[in-house]
Amino acid sequence: MPVKEVKPGDLEAIETASRDEITALQLERLRWTLRHAYDNVPHYRKAFDARGVHPDDLHTLEDLRKFPCTSKEDLRRNYPTGMFAVPREKIARLHASSGTTGKPTVVGYTLKDIDTWANLVARSIRAAGGRPGDTVHVAYGYGLFTGGLGAHYGAERLGCTVVPMSGGQTEKQVQLIMDLKPDIIMVTPSYSLVIAEEFERQGIAADDISLKVGIFGAEPWGEGMRGEIERQLGLDAVDIYGLSEVMGPGVASECIESKDGPVIWEDHFYPEILNPETGEPVADGEEGELVFTSLTKEALPIIRYRTRDLTRLLPPTSRAFRRMGRITGRSDDMLIVRGVNVFPTQVEEQIMRDPHLNGNYQILLTRENHLDNVEVRCELQHEANGLSAQQVNDIAKRLQHYIKTNIGISTRVTIMHYGELPRTQTGKARRVYDERPAQR
Ligand code: DLL
Repeated sequence: MPVKEVKPGDLEAIETASRDEITALQLERLRWTLRHAYDNVPHYRKAFDARGVHPDDLHTLEDLRKFPCTSKEDLRRNYPTGMFAVPREKIARLHASSGTTGKPTVVGYTLKDIDTWANLVARSIRAAGGRPGDTVHVAYGYGLFTGGLGAHYGAERLGCTVVPMSGGQTEKQVQLIMDLKPDIIMVTPSYSLVIAEEFERQGIAADDISLKVGIFGAEPWGEGMRGEIERQLGLDAVDIYGLSEVMGPGVASECIESKDGPVIWEDHFYPEILNPETGEPVADGEEGELVFTSLTKEALPIIRYRTRDLTRLLPPTSRAFRRMGRITGRSDDMLIVRGVNVFPTQVEEQIMRDPHLNGNYQILLTRENHLDNVEVRCELQHEANGLSAQQVNDIAKRLQHYIKTNIGISTRVTIMHYGELPRTQTGKARRVYDERPAQR
């Protein structure tokens, strides 16, 4: 796949700035943010006072460590808009992230916040190789989820033609892609595979699909999945990261020329990695919980937000900003199976080692006689549907062995025929079905 060249004029000055310039800008913006949060959000005033810190105590970026972290719980307690730092009339838009339990988290944006967000998604699409004049098919869900509208505004800002398809209606997705010939698709990795299957069902080869680039995010996916999507859709797949509480898609995004992890747009978000147990910062390169402080947000400034996403900070490559590694899991996604910590992405990595298996899988946990049982259900590629029972049995045995030796848990592997597992229709795939009784 030819990769479009990045010409110097394509980049904003800050994307190639020196570390000193970036630090100076971050410090100035961080001072403003702390002051803005302290002056306008009772939660922050209380939390800073309780810790005995004041926005004036920030002299260097490291001083941020003295300030308290913010959790999803804090947002819940202040539901729906208690964490907003501007009056309601200044809020131009609300989004909400649907937690797995309880009330959603409501987030707000001023017009300026939406402008910043559009610029950052435009920057992300450009990093993925998109250019003005390209056509972008958006298959992230539109609505309260930040994916659809976030991608949409960014693509428009870059000067692209946007197809606001949203999620679902897979046959129509395929029809519109064939008829409108978009260059870029923005969609969750799991739903992209559903679309790819529909292309296959209609007998359309990857070479006949116009898409050159896919910008995938909103859920964890690994290198194996990247290869699978690239092969099935005949495009370059890059990773976009974000979360509603911090903004939405485009907090970080990958460059097509290096495909080495999302570049964190550090001029707007200050990242830290903390040891999830102690809350202490760890060095760059070490894995831990990703924590973000917004630097320019007006409506919902967020201070040291604990994302629960586990990853590491990596040195700059294609841009002046640091990158993040793949999200290896979320601390609240971590399964403890007979005492072993397991992330669904680790299981995915082992499944994707086998070319006969596709990217659909489920992990089913049950408990029998006080012991955890794990069943991994995965699916044959379409072309592998004709394999003999013996061959399928060998695939299952091999996967069981991979999981045992690499992750350390015993599993029962069930290989289903192509098409047997449910597909996501609108976005994030559900991988884990934990049917164990709750522990007291
Ligand atoms: O998923 C925003 C988004 C939309 C990002 C479209 C990228 C593309 P939330 O619904 O609030 O926001 O979910 C945020 O999704 O904390 C991660 O656990 C996960 N996540 C998002 N992007 C990635 C990614 C959107 N590239 C939560 N890799 C985050 C792994 C991701 N996990």
